[in-house]
Amino acid sequence: MNKKIIQKLILSAKKASQNSYSPYSNYKVGAALLTKSGKIFTGTNIENASFPAGMCAERVAIFKAISEGFKDFEALAIYAQGKHFPYPCGICRQVIAEFSTDLPIIIAKSVDKFTITNISDLLPFVFEFEKK
Ligand code: THU
Repeated sequence: MNKKIIQKLILSAKKASQNSYSPYSNYKVGAALLTKSGKIFTGTNIENASFPAGMCAERVAIFKAISEGFKDFEALAIYAQGKHFPYPCGICRQVIAEFSTDLPIIIAKSVDKFTITNISDLLPFVFEFEKK
């Protein structure tokens, strides 16, 4: 993947993480989803006093894109500072796999500490259901 695009997506995800509403975990996640048409949708994690009602950054970005009529994706960046690389949770992997079988995913702890993987590696043998 193009270095400039990688940096742009990480910076967009970092910026989105600044809007994180995470008073319970204090873990600020940002996601930036690049569409095939060149648009970037961002998302951040939104927590709730009733914990399961919260939402991950990745799904916010994907649902924003889908609801605006975009479902062909080129790449996804996920950003969060911390000890571990911010790999997406299992539910987000399933949601990503709904729309892309080979989406590159940039996992960033900072602008220059990142790794790149793919949804096909993160979620092999994905659950599928016949579309009606
Ligand atoms: N979180 C995400 O935003 N994405 C993930 O893939 C994993 C977890 C958020 C949810 C919650 O607000 C915080 O990180 C701690 O779990």
